[in-house]
Amino acid sequence: VPEIGCLSIIVLGASGDLAKKKTFPALFHLYCQGFLPPIEVHIFGYARTKISDDELRNRIRGYLVSERSASPSKDVSKFLQLIKYVSGSYDAAEGFQMLDKEISKHETSKNSLEGSSRRLFYLALPPSVYPSVCRMIRRYCMKKSNLGGWTRIVVEKPFGRDLGSAEELSSQIGELFDEPQIYRIDHYLGKELVQNLLVLRFANRFFLPLWNRDNIDNVQIVFREDFGTEGRGGYFDEYGIIRDIIQNHLLQVLCLVAMEKPVSLKPERIRDEKVKVLQSVLPIKDEEVVLGQYEGYRDDPTVPDHSNTPTFATVILRIHNERWEGVPFILKAGKALNSRKAEIRVQFKDVPGDIFKCKKQGRNEFVIRLQPSEAMYMKLMVKQPGLEMSTVQSELDLSYRQRYQGVTIPEAYERLILDTIRGDQQHFVRRDELKAAWEIFTPLLHRIDNGEMKPIPYQAGSRGPAEADELLEKAGYVQTHGY
Ligand code: BG6
Repeated sequence: VPEIGCLSIIVLGASGDLAKKKTFPALFHLYCQGFLPPIEVHIFGYARTKISDDELRNRIRGYLVSERSASPSKDVSKFLQLIKYVSGSYDAAEGFQMLDKEISKHETSKNSLEGSSRRLFYLALPPSVYPSVCRMIRRYCMKKSNLGGWTRIVVEKPFGRDLGSAEELSSQIGELFDEPQIYRIDHYLGKELVQNLLVLRFANRFFLPLWNRDNIDNVQIVFREDFGTEGRGGYFDEYGIIRDIIQNHLLQVLCLVAMEKPVSLKPERIRDEKVKVLQSVLPIKDEEVVLGQYEGYRDDPTVPDHSNTPTFATVILRIHNERWEGVPFILKAGKALNSRKAEIRVQFKDVPGDIFKCKKQGRNEFVIRLQPSEAMYMKLMVKQPGLEMSTVQSELDLSYRQRYQGVTIPEAYERLILDTIRGDQQHFVRRDELKAAWEIFTPLLHRIDNGEMKPIPYQAGSRGPAEADELLEKAGYVQTHGY
C-alpha cells in the first residue's frame, strides 16, 4: 500500500441512501485492506440533518458488515471513529466554512506535511444541488497547496435529463473545476468483467481477426432485474429505464466492446476511442425500439397514475464505421423480470458451407456474464461423444468462482473510489463522452416524455413484452437453448 499523505474524504449527502449503502461500505472495505491508513486519512460526513457524530456512525454501522470483513466488530468501531459529521445546508456559506475548519484541523496536525492538503469531495446528492455545492466548495473549502495537494470532486449519475440539461450542468461545474478534477462515476466501469474487456479484446490473438462485421452477426448487452422499483418509484419515474441503465451503464459497456484499440493504456487515449464509437452511432429508429412497463408499477403511491415511464426497453444501436456497419448492437434492460443478470452476448455468423447441417443447433456465441457469478463462456459445436457421428452444442467455460477460488472480487465502488484517490480517470466518464451519449438518446427520450411512444404492459416476473423478442429475432439473433 503506497503512502498517500494527508487525505480528507468528505461525503456530502452523508445521511442519504447512496452514502449509507455504497459510499461508506466501500470506504470501509478499503480501510480494512489498508488503503486508508488512519494516521493519514480522515473522513467527514456532511448533510442538512442536525445529528451528532455518533448518530451518523450508528446510521452507517448496519451497512458495513458483510461476509467480506474479517473481524467485523473491531474493524467497524475503529473505522467509525475516523468519521466526523458536520451539518449545514447545500447553498449557504456557514456550513461549508465550518466544514473547512474541521478539515483544516487535522491537516495541520503533526502527521501532515504543511501544504499537502488532499481533499476528495464525494457528492452523494441529487444533481440539482451539484452547482451550488460545487460553488460552495470552490469558495470555502479549497486550500492553496503546492506539495502535491489537490481537490477532487466525485459526482454520480444522472448527469442531467437530456443533452441540454447535461451540457448546462457540465458548464456550470466546468466553470468551477477543471476536467482532471471531476470524476463522473458510472459504477459499471468498476465491475471486474467490464474492466476485463480491453484485456480480452486486445491481449488475445484469436479475438483480433474475428471481432468485426465479417464474423459477428449481432451483439446483445443485457441488464435484467427480478425486482421492481420498490421504494424508489418517485425517483425512477422521473428518469425511466433508458436514463437509469441504458444511456449510461449499457452504453459504457458497448463502448468497450466496440472501440478500436487505443494507442496506449493512458486514460485519455482510452477515453478518446470511446468517444469515437459514440460519435459513430446512427440515430435510433422508432421501429428498432420496444418499450415496456410492468403491471403494478403505477400502484406505487409515489408514481403518477398515468405514468408513461418505461421500466423495460430494448433499443438497437447501429455503429456507422468500417468495423461494425450492419451489426446490430441490441441494448436491453428491464425491471421486474424473471431473473437478475447482466451479460454481453456476441453472436457469430453461421458457418459457410455447413457440411454437418448443424445450423439448427445454434451458432457460436461468446458470452460474458458480468453478474451474478462472473463468467465467460464460448458456445461451440463438438462431435456428440459416442459411436455416432453427430454434432452437439457445448461450452468452453471460464467461471470465476471455480477458476479463481479464494480471490475476492472487489465491489465496483471500492475500486472506483481508490482510483479517485490515486488520480486515475480511466474508469470515469469524460465530458465529451457524456455529451455524445446524450446525443444518441435525447431524441428518443423526448418522444417518450411527450407521450409519442408508449410502453407496452408486461407481467411482473416475466421476460418482458413479447414484442422485444420479436425485435431481437428480426435483428438476426438466433436463440439457442441449453446453457
Ligand atoms: C443503478 C440504477 O445505477 O444501478 C438502479 O439506478 C439499478 O436502478 C442499479 O438497480 C444496478 O446496479 P447493479 O450493480 O446491481 O447491477
